[in-house]
Amino acid sequence: MKLWKQAILAGAALLVAVGAASAQDVKIGFVVKQPEEPWFQDEWKFAQEAAKEKGFTLVEIGAEDGEKVQAAIDNLGAQGAQGFIICTPDVKLGPGIVAKAMANDLKLMTVDDRLVDNAGNPIEDVPHMGISATKIGETVGQAIVDEVKKRGWDMASVGAIKVSYDQLPTAVDRVAGATSVLEANGFPAANIFNAPQAKTDTEVALNAATTVINAHPEIQHWVAVGLNDEAVLGAVRATESVGISAANVVGVGIGGAESAINEFKKPSETGFFGTVIISPKRHGYETALNMYEWIANDAEPEKLILTSGQLATRGDYEQVRKDLGIE
Ligand code: GLA
Repeated sequence: MKLWKQAILAGAALLVAVGAASAQDVKIGFVVKQPEEPWFQDEWKFAQEAAKEKGFTLVEIGAEDGEKVQAAIDNLGAQGAQGFIICTPDVKLGPGIVAKAMANDLKLMTVDDRLVDNAGNPIEDVPHMGISATKIGETVGQAIVDEVKKRGWDMASVGAIKVSYDQLPTAVDRVAGATSVLEANGFPAANIFNAPQAKTDTEVALNAATTVINAHPEIQHWVAVGLNDEAVLGAVRATESVGISAANVVGVGIGGAESAINEFKKPSETGFFGTVIISPKRHGYETALNMYEWIANDAEPEKLILTSGQLATRGDYEQVRKDLGIE
């Protein structure tokens, strides 16, 4: 009896030891398209929390173009990583990324931006976590409609700057969600002006929005939508640069990371009215954890997880962040 007990205890100890050793051997890459963007820094931060908790190594890599993506994957392979999570700079790199991952024997998951195949359809085999883009866009649209009504503006004379980035499906869905709610509430489609951006940062959005504003000097009140906070901030900066006061602008972004928070912290209100806060914790911590479980315990992640968002404004963003566990 005693011997049995000892044997069982020894076996259990061995299992624990094996588990610990394998966690140490696990190396996971987390590759992002725009390392300077606060959203991606937050994803890394939360992914590192998962690494610390489980004892694996997380390698952060910024890859702003296709060449850097290729190099990053080869590099992870050479380092002996077993898998990586990527937010690609271009979803059309999909088939190439899948092939490179396979060649390097790396498990692959995507975050934020879902890979597409040569026909432009999502690559459904690769586990993905993204945001519920249409729904979150609708939340943006509703927030704008509510605020426009509150300010007593005549819906028919308001202009909307639609900062668009059409090569990215999640961006298309987000802004379409927002504009659909504007239109459903009596916003004239003809007053929605497209401001295409070639790159998803504030500066490029500012330039795109400036062109729209300059073309429509008759518009007194502006609202702005875009795929993320940076896009909407660009539109808001554009209104400021031509002297339109904050009282005449309602921009609502998507994200809720530092870009938005810095805006809310400014002493006086700007045209950046609100943001739909999404969860870098889920996108960073959870994807890293799921990848770890896949590598260490052969637990395959769900193929598609879509996360939700919550509207926050200057008055309640701290509470919303707390509620979402991202303080
Ligand atoms: C895209 C955007 C980011 C962020 C994520 C969220 O990648 O470029 O700014 O909004 O989606 O999923």
